[in-house]
Amino acid sequence: MEHDACALTDIADGGKKVVSIGEEKVLLLRKGNEVWAVEPRCPHMKLPLSTGKWDGETLKCRFHGACYSVADGTRVKPPWLLASMGSDKLGTYGVTIKDGRILVQTAGGQ
Ligand code: FES
Repeated sequence: MEHDACALTDIADGGKKVVSIGEEKVLLLRKGNEVWAVEPRCPHMKLPLSTGKWDGETLKCRFHGACYSVADGTRVKPPWLLASMGSDKLGTYGVTIKDGRILVQTAGGQ
């Protein structure tokens, strides 16, 4: 299902924003006129990624340094602590921008 998350202008260029879509939280990341949507918790220990370092291509968790490509969720750098814990893939969502609005595709029927 497609959900209207917010306006593109609600997120600063180079910024991040956590939005609620039904019961689900989604982390939006903006670079210019492009936006990516990922799960808001790090797959390593489920700590928040909203405080991570976003460089326009990758998102680095501030807790143990795991780094993920936001394009497909691939982990490009493992955490320094207990690297075998958790998943090595960050969940991602499809995003469309239409008429200045960020539309996020989720699997759920909310
Ligand atoms: S919780 Fe993110 S790297 Fe450990």
